[in-house]
Amino acid sequence: MSGAIVEQLVAIVGPANVLTTDLDRYEVDWTRRYTGRAACVVRPADTAEVATVVSWARRAGVALVPQGGNTGLVGGSVPRGGEVVVSLERLRHIGPVDALSRQVTVGAGVTIHDLHETARAAGLRYAVDFGARGSATVGGSVATNAGGINVVRYGMTRQQIVGVEAVLGTGDVVSHLQGLVKDNTGFDLASLLCGSEGTLGIVTAVRVRLVTEQPARVTALAGFDRVEAAVETMASLCRSLDTVDAAELMLDSGVDLVESAVGVSSPIPRAAAYLLVECSAHDDQSESLGAILGAAPGLSDVAIAVTPSQRDALWRLRDEHTPSINTLGPPLKFDVTVPIDRLAGFVSSIGRVVSDVAPKARTFVFGHAADGNMHVNVSGVVDRDVDVTDAVLRAVVAEGGSISAEHGIGVTKARWLHLNRSAAEIGAMRAIKTALDPDGIMNPGVLFAD
Ligand code: FAD
Ligand code: LAC
Ligand code: ZN
Repeated sequence: MSGAIVEQLVAIVGPANVLTTDLDRYEVDWTRRYTGRAACVVRPADTAEVATVVSWARRAGVALVPQGGNTGLVGGSVPRGGEVVVSLERLRHIGPVDALSRQVTVGAGVTIHDLHETARAAGLRYAVDFGARGSATVGGSVATNAGGINVVRYGMTRQQIVGVEAVLGTGDVVSHLQGLVKDNTGFDLASLLCGSEGTLGIVTAVRVRLVTEQPARVTALAGFDRVEAAVETMASLCRSLDTVDAAELMLDSGVDLVESAVGVSSPIPRAAAYLLVECSAHDDQSESLGAILGAAPGLSDVAIAVTPSQRDALWRLRDEHTPSINTLGPPLKFDVTVPIDRLAGFVSSIGRVVSDVAPKARTFVFGHAADGNMHVNVSGVVDRDVDVTDAVLRAVVAEGGSISAEHGIGVTKARWLHLNRSAAEIGAMRAIKTALDPDGIMNPGVLFAD
């Protein structure tokens, strides 16, 4: 069967673009927790080839796993066993930036980094940013509705999309890339595909809005004697300043690990909790930011950075959390949201929830404080994965939170989807899935528990 699959796909994309050996980078996920054998990897060149591959898969009864940069953290981007991985890495076309509408159309395989560079060259900015920017693709970020560090100001990926082109699981191509901001002509397929995690179709191109680049940027790292003080200060900053691009929370345990794992050190003395705040505006915000932080309760110290290299040094402390935790072995990763008024309590108590189930595990908590979005990473769990997952996700829901803030459900959380979604909602989602992917070939095992 596998030989026939390869032969038929070679007829569509050519021999150089059907891969059967050295597939590690397509078959193993970023955390190294998820892996499975692919029948092969196919690398179409454009939307027409993607459509031919999907139509072929329907006829052949072969399941497909769409893949961008393979930086997803919920196991949805790698095969579970026997699927064909459809890599969008060759769809790298970048259209001209339209300065009038402040929009650009890019291929699904363009990286977030390259989209940033394109926007920057036009004096604009793409508003979504996160640590995996060098490898994560626009298509993957749409499929996961990626969040990242600038959501507090600009919203998630869904808020940046003006239109998409995609091949549905039926094999039909839908293309809506005119870039009309106001366009109430029925269902918004771009919004529907955003966050669908490759279960409805394959995104091939995206039209995104760009925002004005603010020339004056300042970043501050503030240490606090307790988590509550950091959260209160974050809320006060967001209330007082409309120039806050990012407000991230870190804890002593995470900063300690980053310092030992990658040798990046904090410019301020160790503290129980840290806020990393970035503001951007036409005018320098250092004074306003410094004044609010200086008067903050529980503040132990603060460092303010204005030059790009000083700012980068502060951001490395935050960005290196995820890679540093990976050095301890494949972690259990939870990306959750809780209401802001529960945030400090949640951060302080979730470690105990984990240790009650897995006493030897180490829990690291950090994340996008302004969105109530915490990343709870647990290392050193042996044989209790399901119990730890169940305990953490139920604790989140008990606080009125969401079991996935930004990474998606993937395979990791499929069996817990019912904690956040009613039977009626899951039924509606399944009905949409059946309509757009009647043969169930699009990323089976992701989002819905079988
Ligand atoms: P992949 O990993 O290849 O795929 C992710 C999912 O999308 C899979 O289900 C896949 O099947 C599907 N998919 C991929 N491409 C397509 C397509 N063209 N059409 C349809 N389906 C597709 N995420 C955040 O939201 N915020 C963060 O702050 C953040 N930080 C991160 C930091 C690090 C260091 C790492 C490793 C990851 C981080 N992530 C973050 C997670 C990840 O980078 C995002 O989920 C990203 O959007 C995935 O993009 P990708 O191209 O790598 O997609
Ligand atoms: C981050 C990823 C893990 O925010 O979402 O670092
Ligand atoms: Zn994140």
